Amino acid sequence: MENLLKSFEELKQRNLRIDLTRGKPHSEQLDLSNSLMTQAVEPIGENGIDLRNYGEPVGIIEARKLGAEILDSNVNLTIAGEQSSYLLMTQLLLGRYLFGLDDNPWKDEEEPAFLCAVPGFDRHFATLEGLNLKMHTVDLCPSGVNLDDLKDKLSKHPNIKGFICVPRHSNPSGEVFSDENIIDLLKITKAHDPNFINLFDHAYLIHDFDETQTQTPIPILADSLSALDNVAVFTSFSKVTFGGGGMAFLTTGEKNFKLIERVRNMMVICPDKINQRRHVNFLKNKMNIIEHMKKHARLIKPKFDLVNKKLSNIPNEIGEFTKPTGGYFVTFYAKRPIAKKIVALSAEAGLMLTPAGSTYPYGNDPNDSVLRIAPTYINLDELDIAMEIFVLAAQIAHLQSL
Ligand SMILES: Cc1ncc(COP(=O)(O)O)c(C=O)c1O
Repeated sequence: MENLLKSFEELKQRNLRIDLTRGKPHSEQLDLSNSLMTQAVEPIGENGIDLRNYGEPVGIIEARKLGAEILDSNVNLTIAGEQSSYLLMTQLLLGRYLFGLDDNPWKDEEEPAFLCAVPGFDRHFATLEGLNLKMHTVDLCPSGVNLDDLKDKLSKHPNIKGFICVPRHSNPSGEVFSDENIIDLLKITKAHDPNFINLFDHAYLIHDFDETQTQTPIPILADSLSALDNVAVFTSFSKVTFGGGGMAFLTTGEKNFKLIERVRNMMVICPDKINQRRHVNFLKNKMNIIEHMKKHARLIKPKFDLVNKKLSNIPNEIGEFTKPTGGYFVTFYAKRPIAKKIVALSAEAGLMLTPAGSTYPYGNDPNDSVLRIAPTYINLDELDIAMEIFVLAAQIAHLQSL
């Protein structure tokens, strides 16, 4: 322990300030798309639409076609929206909350609730909480959703309206759901309630940096089960081009599609069609996007390798960690309830981590054990020191907890 404390003290003396809190692209990744900023755009788009004027509330056709190509969805059921998939998700949830699918809005029900895959994404929880939807957790497992836990929660809690998850490179624990898992999830939830909505946040759909298990596209699986209105699949270019400056997509069934159109009409006349056309010009098609994503992978992969190497220095009895093949996060699972302590110790040495608990609804990690590490935003040198701090903090917190 003395040696650990001595090394930790030395790091503290360095007055470091390193931010590992959010999954943001590094500036080198953003540079890959710099030519977007100088792309000339012809004023008239496909279908003769004047891109400089109002119109096309669900996106220009060329952008919707690109979205449908990536999602493997029907273009007529695909929206190309603004720069945030999170915005499209909130618009759909608002529609279900205020108006409902068949004039049965959630707001009129007693304690409408949602199931959330855990560990999960704090912004999802914030939106659901903001809409007063009670949240219950469902565990993940290596093949995706723990379906026994899902069934248990469906039987225990009344009025569950939907489920939210990240089906590829899950944020933060990296699971890639199997086809069987998704099919069973759809069957179980549809049987539970014909209007059940599964929100699949495909933020990391094309973000592999190592070989990753293939998945049949969710719209295809859902269509084969006549369950298109039981899914809403989202993705965006936030981590393809510019964080918060890309373009977002949603596909779902006809009823949900009409509902989100209705909500969007209440708040936005149309998306920024010039930005949409720039993205289409720059990214062109799925094949080209996959090539573009390989450049991201080359920049990201060494960072994940470094995190892996450093975390391997933590003995197994203190904690274990994920080895994702894509996405933006590594998750550390402490064996003892020390996540908050690790965050506090790291902060003392100048390392900012995502707050403990943030991967659970209401910030409530029942075991105080899960920590999310987001290694992409900083340089390798900084990451090296950041992980030194983390590894020491985990060991010290563990020993102090005994
Ligand atoms: C799972 C997940 N969904 C959505 C987002 C945000 O996506 P967007 O910028 O398209 O709103 C993120 C960003 O970190 C994310 O991790």
